[in-house]
Amino acid sequence: MIESSKRLTAVFHMTPAVHCVGDIGCDHGYISHALLETNRAEKVIATDISAPSLNKAVTLLSGAFCGRFETRLGDGFAPIAKGEIQGAIIMGMGGQLIADILARGKDVVNSLDWCIVQPMQGAEDLFDYLNRSGFELMEADLVEERGKFYPLMKIAAGGSDVFSWEDFIHCDDFLPMAEKEKARLEGVARAVEVSGKKDLIDKVKRDVERWEAYIELC
Ligand SMILES: C[S@@+](CC[C@H](N)C(=O)[O-])C[C@H]1O[C@@H](n2cnc3c(N)ncnc32)[C@H](O)[C@@H]1O
Repeated sequence: MIESSKRLTAVFHMTPAVHCVGDIGCDHGYISHALLETNRAEKVIATDISAPSLNKAVTLLSGAFCGRFETRLGDGFAPIAKGEIQGAIIMGMGGQLIADILARGKDVVNSLDWCIVQPMQGAEDLFDYLNRSGFELMEADLVEERGKFYPLMKIAAGGSDVFSWEDFIHCDDFLPMAEKEKARLEGVARAVEVSGKKDLIDKVKRDVERWEAYIELC
């Protein structure tokens, strides 16, 4: 079921064996299904803020995994109590939303052995939150799927690591992503040049230089 998605497969491979995992914002429940099917997780608590989304997971998981999963409606970690899960997966959302979910679920997040986060966009908003809040980076990976690049990180509360795109330089897909991002920013630089807004022009120039520096490190 997850084989057709490099993003889901990468998250699956990053997930360690666990007694009970939280699948936060589970939607269809594909990652929960894969973790239960392979016994990588003995149990899953799948949550979603949307009832129709959660019902998709109920439908998918009900057939085969009776007694090994629970589905709970609610915002982020709110439907989960401290100690119920040892790890969590928050994937397929924007970086700012993932940061907000981590912040609102602080009590549960602080009790986890690990948490895998995979933003679809806005990764830098998530880096900013993690840098401000004290997290350890346990593992980082990057996958390309249908021309888009998705970072994923296994993190734990309580560290002091610095999060940035530099954490992904070792990944095979980093160089193509960096070249694409630099080309995009050069297009933005040409567009803002005509605006005459010096602050904006300087900022975009710095962004282009930052990606040039990443490319040189590859
Ligand atoms: C695009 S789907 C991603 C599904 C799956 N995690 C994946 O990556 O394939 C995003 C899901 O997150 C849910 N969601 C959005 N905000 C949420 C929140 N604050 N708490 C829990 N779930 C949320 C949405 O209802 C939706 O089902």
